[in-house]
Amino acid sequence: MRHTERLLRPWPVAILGLLLVAGCQPAGRYGPVPSRPSRAVSTTAGQNTPTQPEVKAPPPLPDDYVWMEPKRSDMELPVPIVFVHEGSQPAEWNRLKSFWTEEPTPSEQAAALTTIAPFNVIGLAVQSARVVKVKVPLGLDDPTPFLPPYNPPTLGKWELGKRLFFDKEVFLQPATASKTHSCATCHDPARGYTDGRPMAAGSIFNTPTLINSVYNTALFWDGRAAALEEVVQRSLEDERDIPTATASNRHSWTGVVQRLRGRPEYEAQFKRVFGTPPTQDAVGKALATYMRTILVGNSVHDRAVRAMKERTKDRGPLPEARDFESVLDDAAVKKLESQGDPLNKTEASQRLQQAAMLFSARGAARCVQCHSGANFTDNDFHNLGIDEASRKPTPGKETGRFAVLPPGLKDRRSIGAYKTPTLRALPRTGPFFHNGSGFGEEALFFAVLEHIRKKDSPFIDPELRPVKLSEDQVRALVVFLKALDGDPIPAVLTE
Ligand code: HEC
Ligand code: HEC
Repeated sequence: MRHTERLLRPWPVAILGLLLVAGCQPAGRYGPVPSRPSRAVSTTAGQNTPTQPEVKAPPPLPDDYVWMEPKRSDMELPVPIVFVHEGSQPAEWNRLKSFWTEEPTPSEQAAALTTIAPFNVIGLAVQSARVVKVKVPLGLDDPTPFLPPYNPPTLGKWELGKRLFFDKEVFLQPATASKTHSCATCHDPARGYTDGRPMAAGSIFNTPTLINSVYNTALFWDGRAAALEEVVQRSLEDERDIPTATASNRHSWTGVVQRLRGRPEYEAQFKRVFGTPPTQDAVGKALATYMRTILVGNSVHDRAVRAMKERTKDRGPLPEARDFESVLDDAAVKKLESQGDPLNKTEASQRLQQAAMLFSARGAARCVQCHSGANFTDNDFHNLGIDEASRKPTPGKETGRFAVLPPGLKDRRSIGAYKTPTLRALPRTGPFFHNGSGFGEEALFFAVLEHIRKKDSPFIDPELRPVKLSEDQVRALVVFLKALDGDPIPAVLTE
């Protein structure tokens, strides 16, 4: 106790000191701070005072280290990408007609950008003559706070990332001449950025969607990567694949840079965007920039929530049948139907109201306990007893989150626990769960039932309580899950 006090006591003094230096001093009182002679430039040595030693410019870096010092003269002026969110920029959001708008930025607009762009993009925004504005689909959070400070999004990075994402020859080593892979082979935009298979070729895991991955605070089913930049930097070992598989290098970096440096178009593009030849760091940044713009929202549920808010002046906790009904048309109702279960607008709206209640914190199913927030995930890990997680683990061979946590952070909750996935875009992203179970038309019924059946492993998450739901209630939940699917993938992401 006394020890901690001693440690803490200097802080108030230090903070006070900082305030005095930074905040409380009247501006300009002591006049401008004299500028220091540049350390890197030796030609000014003659003007220096005799006491200052001459500082020579360091010699140019060898090729393998150029990524540490981008060559500014090779770079083009970055065009920032900013996200325009309904909540923080209502007028601008309503003005924008489409998902992707490239606009000139007259100087007064550049200044206005400072209110929406993250701090590190402001510098770019003010210099640039153009800006890309991404209209964040209705219902989603503003991605801006999720952008890492070390990688502000720009059009150049995005274009490079998109090119790498779809490139079948360079990024991933073709296992054989006839077997070429790009990221899009498994994360196929036409299938909601998944591959539609139970497990990816050569993997022990189902391919997760990349839709709305900007909001994920942990990546992979066990959360072993913390940033999208990091996903592609794997070693073969930590991909933990079936060892004999040929396609097991999907996120591994081995050889990528060498292959990219063999292609002059890529060399030139990397230099324009990053000021360096292709590097592993830049590859990660470019791909992450592209993935952060894969946004899907504006679902029937999002629109019903908006209708509910307008009707109740923001007070209604849950959308009601009339809110759903006001946003449904025949095409939307068709999409909510399952085989052998035709719906009309009124029935669909009633089921949606019933399911919204079941799903909520006050409902019997309480799905929102884990599938919470605008992206329907708590970004946490739970053992639902799916596949191997339902069996007693062999000591030392535990699976899920437990396996990747460092000693000292492991706990019983993490054994067999996997990341709560988003529930947006489910009709496109099955089969489900980390092992890719459930198939076709029945997959969503299966997924709901998997959550509520009784299981007896001692490691099942206690938050997952077995509940008895009637067949009608399960059907209603399936209609609800379909109503969380949003707009198609914006064409700009794939064309
Ligand atoms: C052979 C199929 C395959 C290819 C090719 C592939 N992936 Fe994946 N991807 C997967 C699988 C399977 C997972 C889940 C692995 C895990 O959880 O351990 C995954 C996970 C991810 C994730 C984590 C998503 C999340 O929310 O957890 C990202 C991001 C990702 N991949 C991006 C990429 C990029 C970028 C490329 C191209 C460089 C790529 N993938 C190539 C199959 C593939
Ligand atoms: C205790 C937390 C928790 C609760 C409560 C919960 N889920 Fe989940 N859900 C998860 C986790 C974790 C996964 C992934 C598990 C795995 O793959 O092993 C998941 C997976 C899913 C999937 C598959 C998604 C995909 O892309 O693979 C669906 C669908 C789903 N949940 C719907 C629901 C519904 C509907 C409810 C309410 C009946 C619900 N969940 C309640 C944590 C939860």
